[in-house]
Formats: sequence, C-alpha cells, structure tokens
Amino acid sequence: MIFAAKVNDIESGRAVKVAGTAGDIAVFRDTTGDFFAVDDKCAHLGASLSQGTCADGVVECWLHHGLYSLSTGERVKYPASGFLHTYDIEVRDDEIWVNPEPNQPA
Ligand code: FES
Repeated sequence: MIFAAKVNDIESGRAVKVAGTAGDIAVFRDTTGDFFAVDDKCAHLGASLSQGTCADGVVECWLHHGLYSLSTGERVKYPASGFLHTYDIEVRDDEIWVNPEPNQPA
C-alpha cells in the first residue's frame, strides 16, 4: 500500500493523483463519503480524470463528459470507452492508502 493523501486533503467530489505500478491513479472522495481509486487516464482519449469531479459513485471526465463507475471502472455513458482499472483503498485513521497494483476488470 502507498500513502495517497490525508482524508481532509480531498474535498467531496474531487480527487488526488498518485503514482501506481500501471500508471497514475486517481483517488476520489465521493459525495457519498466513500473513497475510490481508479486509473487516472481516461480510457477514451487519455484525459486526467483526477482533474474532473465525481458524484454518487460516478466520475465524469472533464474533457468529453464521459462517465465511469468508481466501484467497477465500467463505462456508464458515452464517449467513455473500455474500462478503468480499480485499486483497493484503506482508510487508516485520517490517512488514505492505496494498493498500487490494479484489480483485474470484472
Ligand atoms: S478523454 Fe475522457 S471522455 Fe474523452
């Protein structure tokens, strides 16, 4: 596990970017209060998803407004394409830690 951020460093609906083994990882604080980690690179044309926003378990790519599920990495709305890897998260007290190894897509 690698340190991603302090809990209070991520505003609701926003993300931080950390380096993973298969590329950068976007660690989101959802509006539900849950934390999720997915590939930072949009599977459509590669925009950095950590510069976008999320709500109710879905991240919106800022570039073309494609949507992906934060829990599964699956595309929710065109032009999002393919899938995002997901990463395991642990919240330890006030710190967020992420496994830099991606989960296999479902
Ligand atoms: S680059 Fe993300 S939807 Fe196009």
